[in-house]
Amino acid sequence: MGLFRGGDSGWWNDKRTAEQQLRESESRLRAVVETAVDGVILIDAFGLVEMFNPACESLFGYRADEVLGQNVKMLMPQPYEAEHDVYLRRYRHTGERRIIGIGREVAGRRKDGSVFPMELSVGEAQRDGRPVFAGIIRDISQRKQAEQSLRESEGRLRALVDTAVDGVILIDAVGTVQMFNPACEQLFGYRAEEVINRNVRMLMPEPYQSEHDGYLKQYRDDGVRRIIGIGREVAARRKNGSVFPMELSVGEATRGDQPVFVGIIRDISARKEAEAAREQLQQAQKMEAIGQLTGGIAHDFNNLMAVMLGNLELVLDRLPPTDDSADLIRTAIQSVERGAQLTQRLLAFSRTQTLKPRQIDVNHLITGMIPLVRLSLGEAVDIRMEFEADVWMTMIDAAQLENALLNLANNSRDAMPGKGRLTISTANIAVGPEAIPDGGAPPGEYVRVAVSDDGSGMAPDVLAHVFEPFFTTKEVGHGSGLGLSMVYGFVNQSHGFVTIDSAAGTGTSVNLYLPRMIAPATTDQHATESPTRRPAGRTWAILVVEDDAALRHLTTRMLQSLGHSVREVSDGPAALRALRQDPAVDLLYTDVILPGGQNGVDVAREARAMLPNLKVLFTSGYLEPQDRGATLDPDEELITKPARRRDIEAAIQRVMSRPA
Ligand SMILES: Nc1ncnc2c1ncn2[C@@H]1O[C@H](COP(=O)(O)OP(=O)(O)OP(=O)(O)O)[C@@H](O)[C@H]1O
Ligand SMILES: [Mg+2]
Repeated sequence: MGLFRGGDSGWWNDKRTAEQQLRESESRLRAVVETAVDGVILIDAFGLVEMFNPACESLFGYRADEVLGQNVKMLMPQPYEAEHDVYLRRYRHTGERRIIGIGREVAGRRKDGSVFPMELSVGEAQRDGRPVFAGIIRDISQRKQAEQSLRESEGRLRALVDTAVDGVILIDAVGTVQMFNPACEQLFGYRAEEVINRNVRMLMPEPYQSEHDGYLKQYRDDGVRRIIGIGREVAARRKNGSVFPMELSVGEATRGDQPVFVGIIRDISARKEAEAAREQLQQAQKMEAIGQLTGGIAHDFNNLMAVMLGNLELVLDRLPPTDDSADLIRTAIQSVERGAQLTQRLLAFSRTQTLKPRQIDVNHLITGMIPLVRLSLGEAVDIRMEFEADVWMTMIDAAQLENALLNLANNSRDAMPGKGRLTISTANIAVGPEAIPDGGAPPGEYVRVAVSDDGSGMAPDVLAHVFEPFFTTKEVGHGSGLGLSMVYGFVNQSHGFVTIDSAAGTGTSVNLYLPRMIAPATTDQHATESPTRRPAGRTWAILVVEDDAALRHLTTRMLQSLGHSVREVSDGPAALRALRQDPAVDLLYTDVILPGGQNGVDVAREARAMLPNLKVLFTSGYLEPQDRGATLDPDEELITKPARRRDIEAAIQRVMSRPA
């Protein structure tokens, strides 16, 4: 200190000058002390106050004259007050310093008794050979308060971060993790110490991982924010390598002069799953609604076309072969047949076509249709088959499966103009619940028939709609948009499901999952597949059961025109009554769907119970929704409406030629 060493300075020999200097110095010092912001207090070796500056007055609330000459203890709260005498005495005797020369935080007591924190630094000087002590006092209430509230707010923040449900992560400008809260530990499966001081990239899957450094660097360079301040959905990687979707919002702050980034992370797996489930449900409901609509339309059209077709054929019969109109009629018949094909696909989509499943070895079936596929694809397409050697049996309508595969092959052909490769593969697959779309089919064992091409592939917005009827990207006249609809409906009606893997540019694979047939049937597949003999056209006594009057009359006339003797009734009970009254009937020709709760299959069963030798030929265009999945015995013969007369006649002769 040396401030008050004024008594006998050896520096100045000139006494007058020294005195003058001393006065000047004293007045300077006084000015400093009087105006100091800090309290300045001087005590002697016994603790009596010798000086108490204005700052002290305002600090302690005492006027100087109340304090001067008093023991400084009056300014101290306990325990300082009690200790001070002891402390000074010890110092006088031993010279042991506790505080002198060192700043310390102590407490002061104001006149009003209130206590405040202060920083005290004490210096020692000699005056007249006796020590005096100068204390510099700074009120640190405010600083203490600030520290306290900082501690409190830090504590609150820490509590917030520690208990937050969301993950909170802090990284520096180069991506080093500085904070990783317990929610993050939960989310990522890492303990904080495994992550802190490492690069945040470790929490990211590709492509985020590779891009992150570049991103931070670019931000440092150009300051353009790509994610900061904006929430975003990204993917994160757990310690165990699994990836989950998260919502990340990033804020920026500065620490020192460096930016730091705070990320708030929310796991949105559950939300995503719920969204996906909802979408899937909506999709399933949409397909169901479209299915009912198309099924209804197709049903009505079928009967209309059956009537048109039948009448056109009858007209054609009556025209002399030389009549020019015959060609017109034939063209009309062709159009009706094309219309019938369309409605057939609509029925297939709506899962209301009448199926005739039987035990099928898909390898065998595919092999049989390869020539047809080759024909439709042309020379430039390389066709491959990859068969599961021991493929499981399936119970499926063979004709419809062929139809479906042909549709898929045609789609592939259109996606590979010029040339390409088509692969038809089969595989036995055990399917868990997660792999089944729409939730329509149960988990279990399936035979997967996949038709794959290396063609154009599909963009996601195309892929989302391909099963919808009339959805096509092809030019007018080139596609009706019913191919995949038919495949979808048929496979679903057969208790299977369809998936598609496709991306623009990489080709497409359509996978049909057909349920494995559990109890192997004894029917000999090859026997049913062998071409049927065409017996000579004998004529028979036929009972027609059909509820649609126009169609019933037409059928009767058509059969009569073929030489058969025909009776007609409109429903099941009437048919059974007719058989009871006159059992001289060779063939029951019945619609599968009949009004009055009794369908064609029921009628046939009861009729056969009555007349064991009675033969039955079914006809159908449609299954009512409540009959979906209803199927005929593999042995039964079915004519699909609308049918040409020659096809009906062929079916009749086939049925009649069967052994009783
Ligand atoms: N293998 C494939 N590669 C690329 N796109 C395909 C493939 N299969 C189907 N698509 C797309 O799906 C759409 C719908 O196919 P879908 O078979 O239902 O109808 P379509 O082929 O357009 O007409 P249709 O089959 O009735 O003649 C097609 O128009 C096409 O855009
Ligand atoms: Mg198609």
